[in-house]
Amino acid sequence: MTTNLLTLPKAELHIHIEGSLEPEMMFALAQRNGLALPYDSVEAVRAAYQFEHLQSFLDLYYAGARVLQTEQDFYDLTWAYLEKCAAQFVRHTEIFFDPQTHTDRGIPFPVVIDGITAALRDGQQRLGVSSGLILCFLRHLSAEAAMATLEEALPYGDRFLAVGLDSSEMGHPPSKFQAVFDRARAEGFLTVAHAGEEGPPEYIWEALKLLKVSRIDHGVRCVEDPALVDFLGEHQIPLTVCPLSNIKLCVFDTMAHHNLKHLLDLGLCVTVNSDDPAYFGGYMTENMAAIAAALPLTPEDMITLAQNSFRASFLSDEQKQTFLQAVAQAT
Ligand code: HPA
Ligand code: ZN
Repeated sequence: MTTNLLTLPKAELHIHIEGSLEPEMMFALAQRNGLALPYDSVEAVRAAYQFEHLQSFLDLYYAGARVLQTEQDFYDLTWAYLEKCAAQFVRHTEIFFDPQTHTDRGIPFPVVIDGITAALRDGQQRLGVSSGLILCFLRHLSAEAAMATLEEALPYGDRFLAVGLDSSEMGHPPSKFQAVFDRARAEGFLTVAHAGEEGPPEYIWEALKLLKVSRIDHGVRCVEDPALVDFLGEHQIPLTVCPLSNIKLCVFDTMAHHNLKHLLDLGLCVTVNSDDPAYFGGYMTENMAAIAAALPLTPEDMITLAQNSFRASFLSDEQKQTFLQAVAQAT
């Protein structure tokens, strides 16, 4: 694999901004906000990042997010991620944020969204990284809480393009959120949902049929249902796959056993993403390098992944064409 395939222009479509909180920034923000952390050092934080499954990660991820308190904190978090994008040839990014992680501990919604969107605006102007925002509902909380979150966000509806569904998958099927997704679509938002990361293929069907999602986040368990694979292929529903995340959360035991190459060979619209880069060992380039090293991917596969990242985005057809031309020129 030549290095220039790692430098192809790309989009990232599955990144939780709270999951880009590096331990160094966690300490800096804790100090700035006068908070104590249950760790002695940055190294101790990193050493704690050994996960058995999604929930063991989420427990630390929500604890870490407590250092985010002010608009400046959300700005700094988002800006640091956008600088990574610029350095790693990520030209467009569609970022998840979890308002309930913050509003439930008393941080006002405008503090969160103002800080993030100010950084996104500067990222476009100063770094040339284009972006969109996706508001995620926490599925371990109630459907009513999700609806209240949507209501609170609607006055800021011009700041986000879609709604999504994240947090603990098992026991919280997409069907639980049908009403709030109906409302979001009626208000003009696109929809996505995490499904088939730990949950069964049935959850992917529910996300497609009940939540009418445009993309499936993760989706790697689709292979257990041939009819589902056919549907995803026929409709070219993108899967936002997160390789390093899947290894850290034990969805696959090693990268060599990851099914990404198999999904590509089945003709599915696979994209590569970092999910929670500060917790899972890397950003886009580290994910690309890890799959290139462990899986029998051809140069054409790597180019397809870069193309798919733009095809699967929520950019206009015209913007997609511009980026696809940039990929072609780089190959
Ligand atoms: N899965 C579900 N919820 C999440 C994740 C994830 O990988 N990361 C942040 N919230
Ligand atoms: Zn995710």
